[in-house]
Amino acid sequence: MSTAAVLTEERNLLPVEDEWEEFLQGRYKEGKTEEEFRVYDAEANPGVAEFYRLNHEFQTHDYVLGKEKQYFGLTRGEKSIWEAAEFLNTLVDDSDPDTDLTQMEHLLQTSEAIRRDGHPRWMVATGFVHDLGKCLCLYGEPQWGVVGDTFPTGCAYSDKVVFPEYFKANPDINHPVYSTKYGIYEPNCGLDKVHMSFGHDGYIYEAMKNYLPMEALYMLRYHSFYAWHRHGAYDYLCNEQDRAMLPAVLKFNPYDLYSKGHTKPDMKELKPYYDDLFAEFFPAKLAW
Ligand SMILES: [Fe+2]
Ligand SMILES: [Fe+2]
Repeated sequence: MSTAAVLTEERNLLPVEDEWEEFLQGRYKEGKTEEEFRVYDAEANPGVAEFYRLNHEFQTHDYVLGKEKQYFGLTRGEKSIWEAAEFLNTLVDDSDPDTDLTQMEHLLQTSEAIRRDGHPRWMVATGFVHDLGKCLCLYGEPQWGVVGDTFPTGCAYSDKVVFPEYFKANPDINHPVYSTKYGIYEPNCGLDKVHMSFGHDGYIYEAMKNYLPMEALYMLRYHSFYAWHRHGAYDYLCNEQDRAMLPAVLKFNPYDLYSKGHTKPDMKELKPYYDDLFAEFFPAKLAW
């Protein structure tokens, strides 16, 4: 994965995404020593490092407010869940089509792993929809504005966010308010009030917020907020509800990280189950 490939505005945006997911799996490998943890640095992962350099520089609070305005009104037409998944599936990684999973396969592997473990049907549905927000790439958003770890903006960046050194290039670190611990927020105001860096998590939350239970919405909205759910950062912005929902976010995370399996899901066999599942939770068409 070359740096140049990260920087081009191609529609095919997945090579770095795959590298990012491998990076995440490595970063959060169970039972890893501190020494192994540090192997996941810029030198070992130049593509991922370059991705975060851009992400941390450009995800300013003003950028986030602009993107929220652009997308959170869900004005990009109506689609069924299947149509949204098929649309996302047009985002393909042609670097290695034989071994890489399609977007649809990642969704199905995540939801099928949740189903196999006997979790409630709403969580299976959550597994299926969790990355549908990556269609932002197809709307022309740069990769650094769609995937990767998320973090609060409008207040000081935590050093628990991956590659914190890259925030040095973000103008908000010199802002009189945004650079302070609480920034524009009140202590323990609750994450719902916090403007997270923009990406597929926030967008899918907006699309799903009327249809799934609160646990599911936390799983969707904060699945890339590793600084909070894996490293305990930003507790001072959290309220009791956020703390009560943290276990749900943690329960979901392994299915996202480690469900990449060896067998490709059989769409034809699975379709009837998912038709019923989607009919249970979602209208025939929903706004995106
Ligand atoms: Fe995701
Ligand atoms: Fe995912």
